[in-house]
Amino acid sequence: MFHRELKPFPEGFLWGSASAAYQVEGAWDADGKGLSVWDIYAKLPGTTFKNSNGDVAADHYNRYKEDVALMAEMGLKAYRFSIAWARILPEGRGKVNEAGIRFYSDLIDELLKNGIEPVITLYHWDLPQALLDEYGGFESRRIADDFDEYARVCFRSFGDRVRYWVSLNEQNIFIGFGYMTGMHPPGVKDKKRMLQANHNAFLANARAIKSFREMVPSGNIGPSFAYSPAYPKTSKPEDILAAEDAEEILSHWWMDVYALGEYPKAAMDLYRGLGIAPEVLPGDLELFKEGKPDFMGLNYYQTTTYEANPLDGVGEKLEMNTTGEKGTAKSTGIPGVYRTTGNDYLERTNWDWTIDPEGLRVALRRITGRYSLPVLITENGLGEYDKLTDDDKVHDDYRIGYLKAHILACREAITDGVDLIGYCTWSFTDLLSWLNGYQKRYGFVYINRDETDLKDLRRVRKDSFHWYRKVIESNGSEL
Ligand code: BG6
Repeated sequence: MFHRELKPFPEGFLWGSASAAYQVEGAWDADGKGLSVWDIYAKLPGTTFKNSNGDVAADHYNRYKEDVALMAEMGLKAYRFSIAWARILPEGRGKVNEAGIRFYSDLIDELLKNGIEPVITLYHWDLPQALLDEYGGFESRRIADDFDEYARVCFRSFGDRVRYWVSLNEQNIFIGFGYMTGMHPPGVKDKKRMLQANHNAFLANARAIKSFREMVPSGNIGPSFAYSPAYPKTSKPEDILAAEDAEEILSHWWMDVYALGEYPKAAMDLYRGLGIAPEVLPGDLELFKEGKPDFMGLNYYQTTTYEANPLDGVGEKLEMNTTGEKGTAKSTGIPGVYRTTGNDYLERTNWDWTIDPEGLRVALRRITGRYSLPVLITENGLGEYDKLTDDDKVHDDYRIGYLKAHILACREAITDGVDLIGYCTWSFTDLLSWLNGYQKRYGFVYINRDETDLKDLRRVRKDSFHWYRKVIESNGSEL
């Protein structure tokens, strides 16, 4: 659909930016914090790019006031950050670490003092190691009790000041990478175990949302889903079906449970046939229905294109481009169902992620059409090499171009009727990319460090910093 006149962004639109605890905070063992699975996993040989880890990261724990001052200078309306579960409950449950509560409480107050809406993510992948050791973390249904207890501590401590909450960040990614490709902790490669861990994560998500209704009745909560809309390679019916299957298996499998409280049928049938479907106990689906969100959190980076895959075709590849060498990504698929393929119409980043602003509009439209929920874009951004010039500048016009096109797609989607609450870029400062070290940068603010040298961790405003300030000031009318 082509629009001649675009609707403006609504008043009060949340122009935001985001981060996650392990990727920015550092202070991995400070002030009574317990260990998370990433504190251990990233230090195992060969798990991350150049053995990078989040021990210091962007040192946000110690420099949060400086970072919030930069946000205020930019005029940011919302800042999405995550709470490190093990900073609040070092053993995952039981004893509360008051110093952890104080850190987040101070951060929230600092944001509010500067007119910035805090958006809290409860879980951005840093599970307390104690819970993995004790019962296998998400592989046990016990995770739902412990996540609920942790969420309740957060709701009690911050629910008076924080209106927007994200329950789980990218369940599809942390479960998929943790239990199928084995690239994230706990490094398991077993689809049956993955589907069961995923079911348990749904239980945790729904339990926390139920508690939220009781404890923060006027707040808004939803999960953040990493949605990569599926495109068919051609109009050949087999390719259309492959893309539909991919959409069902890779996206509806999660979003249907969040928003509708049920698993999609064809995918469930496939898994039952393969003998790997998750065990669903009486009461689980009822719980899912009680745990419906207020909005769908959308992390959008790219679309993926699919084609038919013969029965003896490409299987699930446990690899991805984590080097930044363009063109090294491989096709992956399910024999007899689909396989990924290139899209000649789209540019790619150096990490082989497609660049597709129109795909964001497609994503927003599909979510609206299927679930009738408001959407909060909780992540969107470009990971690229950035160069600090001799006069201390970063000319990231490629990032400005990327964000500009995606913000325009948001405006088009709003004109199409999408109820969009806000747009958080990934990320505010540069931060640790889980598997790609510090060379793949996303921020408006450059952090002067790399994988091997902490340098001075100086903050440098990139060109995109000044550009986004104007976007916010004009409520998105000047891009
Ligand atoms: C999302 C995550 O998957 O994408 C972030 O929520 C992550 O934590 C971001 O950093 C970008 O991914 P990557 O692999 O480029 O760091």
